[in-house]
This record gives sequence, structure tokens and C-alpha cells, in this order.
Amino acid sequence: MYPSNAQILCFLFLSVCAAISCVMASAVDVALMQFYLWGDKTSTSLSFVAPVMAKAEEDLASYKDVMNITRVLIYDRNVTTCDGMDQKAAFWATRYYYHNLVGNPVLGIFGPGCRTAASSVASLAREWNTPMLTSTFEDYGLSNKKRYPTLTNFSPYIHQNLNMFLYRLLDHFGYSTVGILCDDANDNLGLYVPTCTGVFDTLRLQYNISASRFYVNATDELNVKFYLEQIKSIARVVIIIAHGDRIRPIMLAALDKKMTEGDYVYFAFEPFPSKRFFGSISWDTGDSDKRGAVRTISKTVSPELWIFRVQTLYLSCSLKSLDARTAFRSLFVLSLRKPDATPEYRKVTDEIKRRSQSITNYTYAAGEEVNPFAMAYYYALGIYAKVVNHTIAAGGNPQDAYSMSKMMWNRTYTILGQDIIISANGDRETDWTLNQIDVETGMFLPVMEYSARRKIVEPSRDPVDNSTRQIVWYNRDSPPPNEPKCGYRGVKPQCDAIKPPNQYQQLAAAVLNLFEVVKGMF
Ligand SMILES: *[C@@H]1O[C@H](CO)[C@@H](O)[C@H](O)[C@H]1NC(C)=O
Ligand SMILES: *[C@@H]1O[C@H](CO)[C@@H](O)[C@H](O)[C@H]1NC(C)=O
Ligand SMILES: *[C@@H]1O[C@H](CO)[C@@H](O)[C@H](O)[C@H]1NC(C)=O
Ligand SMILES: *[C@@H]1O[C@H](CO)[C@@H](O)[C@H](O)[C@H]1NC(C)=O
Ligand SMILES: *[C@@H]1O[C@H](CO)[C@@H](O)[C@H](O)[C@H]1NC(C)=O
Repeated sequence: MYPSNAQILCFLFLSVCAAISCVMASAVDVALMQFYLWGDKTSTSLSFVAPVMAKAEEDLASYKDVMNITRVLIYDRNVTTCDGMDQKAAFWATRYYYHNLVGNPVLGIFGPGCRTAASSVASLAREWNTPMLTSTFEDYGLSNKKRYPTLTNFSPYIHQNLNMFLYRLLDHFGYSTVGILCDDANDNLGLYVPTCTGVFDTLRLQYNISASRFYVNATDELNVKFYLEQIKSIARVVIIIAHGDRIRPIMLAALDKKMTEGDYVYFAFEPFPSKRFFGSISWDTGDSDKRGAVRTISKTVSPELWIFRVQTLYLSCSLKSLDARTAFRSLFVLSLRKPDATPEYRKVTDEIKRRSQSITNYTYAAGEEVNPFAMAYYYALGIYAKVVNHTIAAGGNPQDAYSMSKMMWNRTYTILGQDIIISANGDRETDWTLNQIDVETGMFLPVMEYSARRKIVEPSRDPVDNSTRQIVWYNRDSPPPNEPKCGYRGVKPQCDAIKPPNQYQQLAAAVLNLFEVVKGMF
């Protein structure tokens, strides 16, 4: 009995099918649900994150036998701000989950980059036992992982990290009293108000720093001077939480109040350099402000006088700039540390920038970097894929977000040569720098930094010769003291008590000396 040709064919066909399905079965379907704000209004809007995610996904090619990735982009051209996203995100997520999700893929949620939206989606993610990876500007509440156990926050800016860095600096310089100036103008990202509240509350309640807070209007000179006057009588350290463009007027007002002569220290905050999002913290505005404005010159004066006038004019303009530049020598800026420019980091970000034009029609300006809030999604996807792969290889269930989160947290990853540190609470820990104006170039340079890996504050190093940078204290060689010698009001009891006797003692000593001299003459 020989099998008929038809039977052989059928058998072959079945084996081929089995072989194929075996190969197919080894690739797990993975759906990446990605939430985007349309446009480029925030650092995690579609224009910035979509090219990052596209590149990150491409770089997962080595997992193609393990994962069959499908992308699910969720956005609406009408929704360009967090207000809109906050209203829509949970609805969109639910609709997709119950109506459009085909098969039973492993699901990963990325975004949304808005806090309120992120917290409502994170509640769903908990119900669905789905991992959620996000990067937002604001993290209040999101770090409560009892509530959001499947959420990992990749944001480079977790408030608690800034507060801790600030405290470590104050402690390092011996400061226990601060005045905080908050300006809520130009706060399109909802960044400064929550930061101000966070800094004020944390310094007082967690770190026992004596802090006073004032809401100021930087464009109203009298208003600024009024609050500076208030701070004068309580602190020597001023923390300014405001849009970059509002720092210069505050520093110029401080200069007028003689509060930039080396007795006061100012700390401002800028997550990363970006004129688009945070304005520019610069002493040099080309004298566009009222105080440095170019006045018109009368042409009826004689030529010699005219030249003289031009010279004085030039001098007065450059003096205004010099004013600002002098004032800025008392100013320090806290920022995220710039990523290490490793060759792999350069290669990937250059490619993201190059392709962003065709993906989202956004053109990076010369010198503009892929911002760290968007880059966070590159690391997030890379780590997510690693954990899914590991879970599958270990025979675990890649649909169990609880156990996958535990696997992802309390670990340090190296991606593109950068340390990506996820705390035991599932929040990113990043490095920070303290920047000061370089006296020669007038540019801000890092002078101190916080290393999240080593948990220490230390001097920055020059990338060229690896020498350590020194802080240059204006008009002095050490940090100005926390409190003036005789107290803020000059009425410390010991000053009253000690000074006069000292003078009498000196007088007495002088008389005694004179007496000795006179005695010696005889
Ligand atoms: C996926 O996990 C397996 C088992 O741990 C490992 O051998 C493999 O290299 C991983 N794949 C990638 C692309 O890392
Ligand atoms: C990958 O997933 C998509 C969507 O779930 C599915 O249509 C496709 O057949 C899958 N491809 C493979 C090779 O499994
Ligand atoms: C977007 O807004 C416009 C007008 O505000 C409206 O006509 C349009 O239907 C909206 N589109 C969507 C997709 O909601
Ligand atoms: C907080 O600081 C004040 C002085 O600045 C000190 O008297 C007090 O003991 C401190 N409290 C704690 C709990 O450290
Ligand atoms: C801030 O001050 C400027 C100049 O006095 C004024 O025009 C503006 O309305 C003020 N802004 C607020 C929010 O009070």
C-alpha cells in the first residue's frame, strides 16, 4: 500500500504549514499604543516624539523573531495642548482597548506626556495589567505607585530630583534660609507654578530649610524691587522660578538694589537650553530692553560733538550690558546634565533629526538637539523590549505588567552610552548640573553636578582637559554667608554687645602703647 500522490502532497503541505506556524508562533504579537499631542507645542508632542519612537522601533530589529510589533498611534489634529489631552486620553484608550484591539497582543502604553491624562490612563493600565511608560513635565501624584503600579516614569525631570539637588547645593554652601521668587508668566507648559510649589514645600517640610515665597511680576520693576526688599531682610539666597526671559529684569532690579555685589546668591532653573520652550537666560539681549535701548541722536550738532555723543552712547549701551553681565555673575542655573556625546548617541540623534522632516514635517534648527523629554521614549521602548524578551525567554507572561514592572525597576541600563537609572519606585533618576557664567566668554558653563549613579554632588570637569571647574564667587573667594555678620537687620545682640568694648579696648591698647613709647623715650 503506497500512499497516493494526493496524500503525499497533503502530508507535505501539512508539514510545511506546521513548520511555518511553528516559526510564526515564536513571534509574539506586541501592540505599542502611543499617545501624542498633535504639533510641536510641548517637548513630548508628535513632532518630537514620533521620529524618536520610529527610530527606537527600527532599532528593535534584532527582536524580530521574538516580537511582531504593531504600532497604534493615538492623536487628534485638534488636540495640541494638555487641556485637550486631559479630556480625551481615557476615552481614547478605552475605545481602542475594547473595540479596536484585535487578537490578544502583548500591549504596551507609551505616553501621554500630560500629567492629568497620564494619571487617568495609568489607572486604566492598572485595571488592564498593562505596562505604561511615560515622560511628562509634571509628576505630582504619578510617583504614587500603590495607585499606578504598572507605570514607569521615564521623564528626565522628576520634581523630587530637582528639589534634592537644590537642597544638596544649599547644604554644600551652608545655606539654611532662602527667598523664592515665582513668576507664572509665559508658563505655557505648566512648568513653573508646580515647580515653585514643589520647591517651596519640599525645602521647608522635607529639608527643614527656612523658605519664604513671593509671587512676582518680572515686567513690573517696582513690584520686583518691592519683593527683593522683602527678601533682603530675611535671606541672602534667592531662588527664581520663572521663564528664562524674565530672569534678566529681575537680576537688573537686584543690581539696582545693590544686591549683586557678592553678598547674595541667585539660583534659577532651566530644564535644558531651549529658547522655544523656556526662553533664554541671558545677560545679553542686544540691549533690547528699555534700559539699554538706543536713543536717537540729533544730527544738528557739530561733527566732533556728534562723535563724542556716539561714543558716550556706545559706552552707556555697553555699560548696561556690563551691568547685566555683572549682575549675572551672582546667578547660577540648575539644569539637566547634557547627555554624554557618545558616538552612538550622536548617530541616533542625528538620524532622528534628519528624518523628522519627512516623518512629522518638523525641521530641527542648526545646533538644536533632540530634547531629553522626547529622547526618554527611546530609552523607554528599548527597555520595554528588553523586559518583554527576557520575560518570554524565561517562560514568564509578558502580559503581566505587575511582574514586568518589578523587573524593570531598581535597575540601571546603559543605552547609547547613557546611564538610564530607574529607581526602586519606578521613576527615572537623572544627573543635574549647576551652571555659572564664564567670566571670559559670558556663557553659562557647568561648575558642579549631581551624579544619580553615585549619589554625590561634585565639581564639573572640563570635557577637553578633564580639569575640575571652580566656582568663581563675585567679589569674594568663598560663598557669601547665609546671614550677614550682624543679622539681617544689623541688630544681632552680640554685635551691639561686642562692638563698643572692642573699640574701647583698642583705644586703651593704643593709649598703653603710646605710654610705653613715651616711657621708652625717657
Ligand atoms: C532575548 O533574550 C534571549 C534570552 O535571554 C537572549 O539570548 C537574546 O539575546 C535576547 N535578544 C536580544 C535581541 O537581546
Ligand atoms: C503581526 O501582527 C499583525 C497585527 O496583529 C498581523 O496582522 C500580522 O499577521 C502579524 N505578522 C506575523 C508575521 O505574525
Ligand atoms: C476640529 O475642530 C474643528 C473646528 O474647531 C471641527 O470642525 C472639526 O470637526 C474638529 N475635528 C475633529 C477631528 O474633531
Ligand atoms: C530645623 O532647623 C532649625 C534651625 O534652622 C532647627 O532649630 C531645628 O532643630 C531643625 N529641625 C529639625 C527637625 O532638624
Ligand atoms: C505685570 O506688569 C506689567 C507692567 O506693569 C503689566 O502690564 C502686566 O499686566 C502685569 N501682569 C500681571 C499678571 O499682573
